[in-house]
Amino acid sequence: MILVTGGTGRFGEQVIRTLRKLGLDVRALVRKGSHYYWLNDTGCGFFFGDLLDPVSLRRACRDVEYLVVASGLQLESRANNHTTVTVEGHAALFKAAQERGVRKAVMISCMGVDRGLSVPSFDARRGAEEQLIASGLDYTILRAQLHEHFFLDLAWKVHDTGHALLPSRGSNQLQPVASRDVALMAAASLDLADVANQVIDVGGPDRISAHDAFEAACQVVGVQPQARVLPGPAVTLGRKLGRPVRRYAHRLAELSAWFDQDFTVDSAALAARFNIPLTPFRDALAQTNQTYQIMRDPEAREKHMVHPQFYATVYEPGEADWSSLPDGPLPARD
Ligand SMILES: NC(=O)c1ccc[n+]([C@@H]2O[C@H](COP(=O)([O-])OP(=O)(O)OC[C@H]3O[C@@H](n4cnc5c(N)ncnc54)[C@H](OP(=O)(O)O)[C@@H]3O)[C@@H](O)[C@H]2O)c1
Repeated sequence: MILVTGGTGRFGEQVIRTLRKLGLDVRALVRKGSHYYWLNDTGCGFFFGDLLDPVSLRRACRDVEYLVVASGLQLESRANNHTTVTVEGHAALFKAAQERGVRKAVMISCMGVDRGLSVPSFDARRGAEEQLIASGLDYTILRAQLHEHFFLDLAWKVHDTGHALLPSRGSNQLQPVASRDVALMAAASLDLADVANQVIDVGGPDRISAHDAFEAACQVVGVQPQARVLPGPAVTLGRKLGRPVRRYAHRLAELSAWFDQDFTVDSAALAARFNIPLTPFRDALAQTNQTYQIMRDPEAREKHMVHPQFYATVYEPGEADWSSLPDGPLPARD
């Protein structure tokens, strides 16, 4: 059994689809309010839990051989923040996995977390990496680049509002990676001896500026790349803001790093190491944009949803208590 966290997220969904295509048993740790039913067609099992709830993590890890960690936060909330979830939640998960005898954990982290950039989300992910390494579990940490969803989100923002807000012009060099390629690497990492106990930078095959990546996404969505660039002093001030807007300051700090620093990798060596061809960035944009179009069209969305109210829950006998059970299907509507 492979336990996957963050299965309702952009990387995590691809991880679950990849593992299921390989015919492997997957248990997704999902929160009760999540849109986990989009995974129903994969046939994975669901375990209702939360990184904030260590008891649920112990239960979720029962009879698990491998763990894939794709959970993370883009925007924090008061309870779900980088301290409670990114660092402490993942630490509790690794402890539970270690105690349950899990053989290996593969974690999708983030490129740049080791550069001392004073970006709170990067520092927290680095903290989570350190917890994994210290846990005694065998591990592989994949430090991923921005994926195609990031740029498609910006392009659809232009579509919906007329422009996207960028922290700078973005002349820095990136190698955005296809989320499906990261999922393949995560799956391969489960038993690839060459990547055991390694931390690996992961990027795509195309070296491109952040601004050109934004333009490419706009082209795929079919909009003019209209961007407003935040003035430098506003970015500096924004990054320093304290409560109650700290979560926006943290997010801005991360976005500023992605639009300021170069993040490059030796993609040929990476492809050879995992023995997979890396997807060109524009192909990843075009493929994933098909899903965006389905999700934005209510009729197409309804057609693609498999049993929205079907619960396939994995509970261990004698381990579940009433409070952890879902409410059950809603009454059918006419
Ligand atoms: N976004 C990027 O471009 C990027 C780039 C490089 C690396 N990464 C790395 O990849 C990770 C995942 O990125 P992503 O873009 O796939 O993120 P995402 O789409 O925002 O997904 C995050 C996942 O984490 C889950 N989660 C959040 N809080 C949780 C909690 N308290 N308990 C259990 N699950 C929780 C979410 O579940 P819900 O559905 O319940 O909210 C969701 O499934 C990031 O944290 C980061 O380390 C991301």
